[in-house]
Amino acid sequence: MKLRACVIGHPVAHSRSPLIHKYWLAVHGIAGDYTRVDVPPEKIERFFDDFPKSGYVGGNVTIPHKEVAFRKVVEADPVARALGAVNTIWHKDGKLYGASTDVYGFIANLNRSQPGWEKQAKTAVIIGAGGATRAIAYGLIEKKIPNIVVANRTRARAQDLAAHFEGKLVPVALSNLMPHLREADLLVNATSLGMTGQPPLMLDLSPLKKSAIVYDIVYAPLETELLKAARARGNPVVEGLGMLLHQAAPAFERWFGVRPEVTPELRALVASDLARKAKR
Ligand code: ATR
Repeated sequence: MKLRACVIGHPVAHSRSPLIHKYWLAVHGIAGDYTRVDVPPEKIERFFDDFPKSGYVGGNVTIPHKEVAFRKVVEADPVARALGAVNTIWHKDGKLYGASTDVYGFIANLNRSQPGWEKQAKTAVIIGAGGATRAIAYGLIEKKIPNIVVANRTRARAQDLAAHFEGKLVPVALSNLMPHLREADLLVNATSLGMTGQPPLMLDLSPLKKSAIVYDIVYAPLETELLKAARARGNPVVEGLGMLLHQAAPAFERWFGVRPEVTPELRALVASDLARKAKR
């Protein structure tokens, strides 16, 4: 019997998850499949209720359904509970379970790209205050980074996030970024700015130390204007595609029982797909 998994979102046509999981299915010789399922918000609760009988062994959950998924599972792992969001689901005895692998994806990508980064990272600056920032802040708090600044256009949202994490974050307005940029050892773009179809994240990087790591979670395009500017002035950079690849690995293991590797070949496969789509 073919084991089937899926990615559930709305819209979901752009998702690269099928490419990643089908690659690993082939590498490991598993008779399986991985498809996209577009479920509109008004149908999502029913979809999750029926999921254990759907024939899927599990799935990924993406925007805008991660919070609903968290509410629908009977049990979520500690990271998902801290975030209030689930990106991986599976079922057992007719019951739905969930986890979040986004924090793992963010940190594993950073570890792989910049080994030893946490030794130099006294101050991290995250731009944005949405769901992605929540996952990144959780990861950096776990890594015991002493000073974590969250800079958001709407300062109130950064303040809400700081309250959620019991004061372990410093909330600032994006318009007051400069003094914090000077201190940053790690700068992360956790907004959708810079993504194809969105305006770029316009930042004056001149106050930034040359040793500061610049990490953009946007992966389409592969190299955003922010990463280009950072690379041009000699800063170490971390591309967002790695986060997508790494968050997929524990989900694949959960459904198919094998821990897959994030290889240069897989990265090249997804990168070439991104480049091809960008040209159209
Ligand atoms: P996600 O859950 O994926 O992180 P989100 O909740 O929509 O996405 O958050 C998007 C982030 O991008 C927010 O921090 C948003 O800032 P506001 O809270 O002020 O809306 C930020 N953002 C979006 N467009 C922006 C812009 N033009 N300038 C600055 N920040 C922007």
